[in-house]
Amino acid sequence: MPGIVVVGTQWGDEGKGKVVDLLTEKADMAVRYQGGANAGHTVIADGREFILHIVPSGILHDGVQCVIGNGVVVDPVVLLEEIDSLEAKGVDTDGRILISDRANVIFSYHKLMDKALERMRGKGKIGTTGRGIGTAYVDKTARVGVRMADFVDERSFPEKLEINLREKNGFLADAGRTLSLSDVYERYKPLADRLRPMVMDTTHVVNRALDGGMTVLFEGAQGTMLDIDYGTYPYVTSSHPISGGVCVGAGVPPRRIDCVVGVVKAYTTRVGDGPFPTEQDNEVGEKLRNAGPIGEYGRTTGRPRRCGWLDAVVLRYAAMLNGLDYLAVMRLDILDDFEVIPICTGYRYNGSVLESFPALLRVVQECEPVYEEMPGWRESTARARKLEDLPKNARAYLDRISELVGVPIAMVSVGPSRAQTLILTDVMEQLR
Ligand code: IMP
Repeated sequence: MPGIVVVGTQWGDEGKGKVVDLLTEKADMAVRYQGGANAGHTVIADGREFILHIVPSGILHDGVQCVIGNGVVVDPVVLLEEIDSLEAKGVDTDGRILISDRANVIFSYHKLMDKALERMRGKGKIGTTGRGIGTAYVDKTARVGVRMADFVDERSFPEKLEINLREKNGFLADAGRTLSLSDVYERYKPLADRLRPMVMDTTHVVNRALDGGMTVLFEGAQGTMLDIDYGTYPYVTSSHPISGGVCVGAGVPPRRIDCVVGVVKAYTTRVGDGPFPTEQDNEVGEKLRNAGPIGEYGRTTGRPRRCGWLDAVVLRYAAMLNGLDYLAVMRLDILDDFEVIPICTGYRYNGSVLESFPALLRVVQECEPVYEEMPGWRESTARARKLEDLPKNARAYLDRISELVGVPIAMVSVGPSRAQTLILTDVMEQLR
């Protein structure tokens, strides 16, 4: 013990990478439990920027063991590129990355199919990252996926690949491109050879670590509103970013989760299509997108993110679904130059105010956000290091968020570097 989960409370890109990086300073193990290389966790460490797509951000702390759990879909090309790039920057990854033998593998055909399906959807596209995430999870659920155990097994891999390619080439022929078994096999076989020493039954590793009193940090990717069941379906990803996803995605019993930290961006962003009630598709959104040292552009695809005000309906929903113990409020500095900062407290629909997030997308699209206006602070927060350093109105904004969501704030971020973090509660100390 303890097991700590870091989850995104909005549509992803909340700043989970930084929170995980700070918390792993006192952790022994970092575990990814869902998603794949659609994620892009940015961590600024020792003045250098690292963008991690699949390796847990814990890798940047010496001695922390990193696990890619069974709930993740693993692209061997991206994973090995990431390992090589970490090594080139002087990060020792040797023996520190363990991959679940039950994790499904993403191949080139998953990416081709992801992109072809998006083209076929036309205006109804989801706006996926094109990383083959959804198509790999489809194979998993359809029970034809190639798992890591198969991938690194010399007999199983060609057999499974052959079955898959026969099936996929039917579809790819329509999209104008088929793949040959020998080409795919020859391309991926050396990657399987490199990954083989890292592949094992990670459920034992993670549970043994928890049994042995180690601190294990479960690192969520994407966010609650992109969860396949609870998000704005079908404009979601194909996995469970919520805290419950840890149990199935890493093989950990629910009782082993001791603390859940919800990461909240001080406003809201979304990348890709789908409803976004507090979106500001105007100069306010543009200002939010370009304020601060790192603009709101996707780390995986480079797409401009859609920006809008904070939505407490979303946050309350996330608090309930994830069982949040603490909030980490990120990018507060982006709001430094606004006269008034609205917070959405409910959705007006058909004459009444909805306080919970509706399932029917038509309702989400038609509802009108009810805003409460908070006064801005019009001064830089970037140099604040403790709560008292923040302007009064910034503190009032944080208090209001905590009150509306019903969850205390443990951490506030006012810039990308590790130093630009205000620790209100030391989560790790609380758990000791
Ligand atoms: P997919 O996960 O690539 O299938 O994309 C499905 C939806 O999730 C799209 O709207 C993506 O933009 C969104 N998405 C996937 N990963 C991330 C992420 O890490 N941050 C933000 N949005 C994401």
